[in-house]
Amino acid sequence: MLWLLLLILPCLGASVPGTPGPERPGIVGGCPVAARSFPWQVSLRFYSMRQHRWQHQCGGSLVHPRWVLTAAHCLEPQELGACAFRVQAGGLRLYAPGEELSRVVQIIRHPEYNSSLGAAGGADIALLRLEADVPRGRGVPVSLPAAALSIPARKICWVTGWGDLGYHRPLPPPYHLREVAVPVVGNGECDQRYRNSSRHRPAIRDDMLCAGDKDQNSCQGDSGGPLVCRWNCTWVQVGVVSWGRCCGLQNFPGVYTRVASYVPWIRSYVPWFSGP
Ligand code: ARG
Repeated sequence: MLWLLLLILPCLGASVPGTPGPERPGIVGGCPVAARSFPWQVSLRFYSMRQHRWQHQCGGSLVHPRWVLTAAHCLEPQELGACAFRVQAGGLRLYAPGEELSRVVQIIRHPEYNSSLGAAGGADIALLRLEADVPRGRGVPVSLPAAALSIPARKICWVTGWGDLGYHRPLPPPYHLREVAVPVVGNGECDQRYRNSSRHRPAIRDDMLCAGDKDQNSCQGDSGGPLVCRWNCTWVQVGVVSWGRCCGLQNFPGVYTRVASYVPWIRSYVPWFSGP
């Protein structure tokens, strides 16, 4: 019997007390991003009078050199116009000396987003049109999924951002972008988990997608950023960071806006971009 226990022990990995595991601080969990791995990631900025700088507010992604996809709840209150925001593309670290910000000239919030329900009400998606194309050296757009794409449960995808490392644990300077691998959780299972803590029915709508596990999740400040999966060597953005209960709790995956549900809407504004 003992030999059996010895055989399976190493497989339990980090769950065995005292086993030295890989370093796992996060976005929640994860690692710092190496140059050029997620070149579509942008930081959405809002001017802070207190800090006298364009402060990181949310993530976003380039879906075209002139268009950013983000979450509608990142652009609250609704009265705020395009000039209240800037976009930083191409930087791995926030507020790096000499960073260049792009002006936003148009905000398109999804018409079904309901700001009184917030992200949990669904349609948490928005587009930003930039004043000029982001040059290739500072950003490469990510591919959008086919509208019919279904994403299998347990597929491993990646989420990136400058958000908190855990509950009330902000990312410290030099604010280096982080990535973490997260398993997709089926909508039925995710709805079960959120059922008791949400006043919405279903808690997880069809236009949402869940992903994450204990210590592998998105968190505050990651909102609006991309969840990407790889198919045949192509990265496809399947989700937009939207909401979740705390961060990195075992039974509460992160909840994302399901991009495939909104591809026709996105395509009605964003021209096709066939790559470099
Ligand atoms: N709503 C948050 C934001 O504004 C992000 C939510 C992600 N939370 C989570 N538990 N996965 O940044």
